Amino acid sequence: MAPAPKPPAAFSSLAPAVHRGSTVVFERLGDVSDDWRQAARYTYGLYGTPTTLELGLRIKALDGGYHCFVAPGGQAAIALVFLAYCRAGSHVLIPVSVYGPTAELAGDLLTGLGVDVERYDPLIGGGIASLIRPSTALVWCESPGSITMEVQDVPAIVAAARARGVAVALDNTYAAGVLFDAFAHGVDVSVQALTKYVGGHSDILLGAVSVANEAAYAAVGRAYRLVGMAVSPDDCALALRGLQTLGVRLERLERTGLAVARWLKEHGEVATVLHPALPDCPGHEIWARDFTGSASVFSIVLRDDWTAARTARFVDALRLFRIGFSWGGVASLVMAYPTSERLGTRRERLVRLNVGLEEPADLIDDLRQALDGWGQSL
Ligand SMILES: Cc1ncc(COP(=O)(O)O)c(C=O)c1O
Repeated sequence: MAPAPKPPAAFSSLAPAVHRGSTVVFERLGDVSDDWRQAARYTYGLYGTPTTLELGLRIKALDGGYHCFVAPGGQAAIALVFLAYCRAGSHVLIPVSVYGPTAELAGDLLTGLGVDVERYDPLIGGGIASLIRPSTALVWCESPGSITMEVQDVPAIVAAARARGVAVALDNTYAAGVLFDAFAHGVDVSVQALTKYVGGHSDILLGAVSVANEAAYAAVGRAYRLVGMAVSPDDCALALRGLQTLGVRLERLERTGLAVARWLKEHGEVATVLHPALPDCPGHEIWARDFTGSASVFSIVLRDDWTAARTARFVDALRLFRIGFSWGGVASLVMAYPTSERLGTRRERLVRLNVGLEEPADLIDDLRQALDGWGQSL
């Protein structure tokens, strides 16, 4: 049988190539490799294609890590780290400000597997030392925290954990591998939902787990291989494309975020603006010390007399800010959140905003018409 016709092999495109494939074929049996570490050879699509590995190498370089594993979503990346570090009888520490599904994963699946999950105050800093036990397997950080935006003293937590031989993992999605240098601050494992800033256009779900050293590489790599974290090469190619504009998008998002947050701070209906670059945000001084910039997402607490119905009318009145979960894309988003007991506020007064690439003046006009339109109680 004649071999299937093929075009010339040499094609050097500026755009990232998409290599799909499960089976990798070998010329000779002697060439067969099952080295999951993928140091030099391909084995099976699950463990890497040129596209998925290129993304891993780029994120590794961005994070300045030892290796980066690409996962099918941010939540999958988070689950991978817990699976890698926890056994029945392990104790793990997670901040109360953690991303909701991380808390659920820990409180439900991990607890069910016999892991002792303890929640801690995100502003605890070096005080974490008093919570570390001989059985502590991992300290989880997320900075700033989801929705309530507490900036954590990661270096102080790392110092306390390291002195007791305990690994620290960080959900570093807010920083996009750019605004906070996780490894320079001593973290062992840095997780990022590539879904947000790296993807940047709300059309993919991907995650990354970057590790600082050989020990973390061995721990996460073993779990990665065993749980079969298959990632779509098409999505990886979109993430590679997103990386090409990450810097300019982050710069623009920071400027817009600050302009909108500062305007909101002056508005009479807004009690507090939880933006890491503004002094009202818990841990603002840590942000000023450790971060090189701020991102697109922040929250506001509305005045005391706002009811749930009034908050809903305000959110519904927004036109440019679309109602939806997530952040980091080109479009501005808004969501009211039921997680504010940490701030001592009623749930109906906490609203998270994510600014996109629209004109800042248009976003401010949108907020003005929605806030002023519902500024009087009905
Ligand atoms: C802080 C944080 N970490 C992780 C995730 C999960 O990412 P994904 O949606 O890719 O699973 C999210 C998603 O909203 C998030 O906000």
